Amino acid sequence: MADSVIGLDLGTGGVRAIAVDLNGQLIAQATRSYPLLAPHPGWTEQHASDWVTASIAALTELTTRLQGHRAIALGLSGQMHGMVPLDAEGEVIRPAILWNDQRTGQAVVEIETVIPRQELIQRTGNPAITGFQLPKLVWLRSQEPESFNRLQRILLPKDYLAYVLTGEQATEPSDASGIGCLNLATRQWDDDILQTLNLSPTFFPSVVDSTAIVGRLQLAIAQQTGLPEGLPVIAGGGDNAAAAIGLGISSAQLNRGSLSIGTSGVVFVPCDRPTPDPAGRVHLFCHVDGGYHLLGVTLAAGGALRWYRDTFAPEVAYGDLMTLAERSQPGSRGVLFLPHLSGERSPHLDPDARGAWVNLSLAHTQADLVRAVLEGVAFGLKAALDVVNELNPVHQLLATGGGARSPVWLQILADVLQTELVAPKTEEGAAYGAAILAMVGVGAYSDLDQALQLILRATQPITPNVHAVYNTSFQHYKTLYEALKAIR
Ligand code: XUL
Repeated sequence: MADSVIGLDLGTGGVRAIAVDLNGQLIAQATRSYPLLAPHPGWTEQHASDWVTASIAALTELTTRLQGHRAIALGLSGQMHGMVPLDAEGEVIRPAILWNDQRTGQAVVEIETVIPRQELIQRTGNPAITGFQLPKLVWLRSQEPESFNRLQRILLPKDYLAYVLTGEQATEPSDASGIGCLNLATRQWDDDILQTLNLSPTFFPSVVDSTAIVGRLQLAIAQQTGLPEGLPVIAGGGDNAAAAIGLGISSAQLNRGSLSIGTSGVVFVPCDRPTPDPAGRVHLFCHVDGGYHLLGVTLAAGGALRWYRDTFAPEVAYGDLMTLAERSQPGSRGVLFLPHLSGERSPHLDPDARGAWVNLSLAHTQADLVRAVLEGVAFGLKAALDVVNELNPVHQLLATGGGARSPVWLQILADVLQTELVAPKTEEGAAYGAAILAMVGVGAYSDLDQALQLILRATQPITPNVHAVYNTSFQHYKTLYEALKAIR
């Protein structure tokens, strides 16, 4: 019987489990979705029990499709930054608070009042950020003291799933560095920060390597899913780091990153030292391979286009919107779009930022408006990439996600970013990276570099063209953010 490994990505919309053979070929996949709760404006929560039910269902379905392969390890990946609070019995105290939740504004101020922002950035790679886990913990202490008094442990989403699967509690550096109190130099909890905030380090689990075996599949889960009891479960990585590994992006090649156009737009660039942007305009997290990575996030990328379509063109297919955008011209005949429809992360860290179309006239058409949306998202990403380039120049980006399937948008992105883009032939996302980490964790490959030789190299590069109008538009774009901030 041939061996296979399983990779599981616990996303925000749902869970995806895949099985791959030891040559990296996809054997099977299974997905399940779960609801996103929004109990108040700006709040996002999920029931951790929904993650478990969906993951077990997906794993059970996957097991029936292994085509004679035997699973030898399970690697995990998932949405970052969320908080699952547990009591002394390991029971969940309240619904999980997610990465895109905005309730912690006051907690962020509280943290930065006692620990200067500059010091936080130097120690953890990032300032206090509303979506991160640490401000959620501070929020819980002040807003839900009964829950806080019962609190024994907080876990990140994928680490909670590992706990249910194995009975063991742990985390690993790529996800832990998105909490807000991991010291990037030591890759361990920063006791000084926790002490200053009067928080016990015992709230956090131990930090193991991303390829470490966290524990082994418990009998009850094995019986439910059909997977072998004792199956090694590998710590894995946060979704962005795992997706990067799935694309072959490691700290071994520093000038090659990725650009993902999903609901949000993400620029991921590996680096070998924990040197943060002094102003904290882009994130610095640990990579799963012992290195680090810079991460720039535009919150509404594909999300901005989806909003456009849902609001103004619900009957029109995305492909037709792209054809329409092509009928306009670079610079959208003067129309500019600011994509901050969900506030903004990089480079502004401004949850209250808002979007806009600017410079409209009677002569403009739908083609100009759609193209302006595509260009506006590209400008948002350029603002983040410019900061990344100051720290670690990048020459090539592997473009992934739904938006990257559009040749029109890809060319706009290449032209605005002035960076070569490459669209990979196949793209299996974070679950694939989790599977690769599992292969290394279980010793099928001696290290990540060896496992990454598996990854199929990309197809056609998209070479940037120069349009002078983009330089002018980008300058106006930057001015507009400041101008609109002034009238809020
Ligand atoms: C990264 C981030 C998101 C989540 C979504 O900082 O917030 O990419 O990981 O899953």
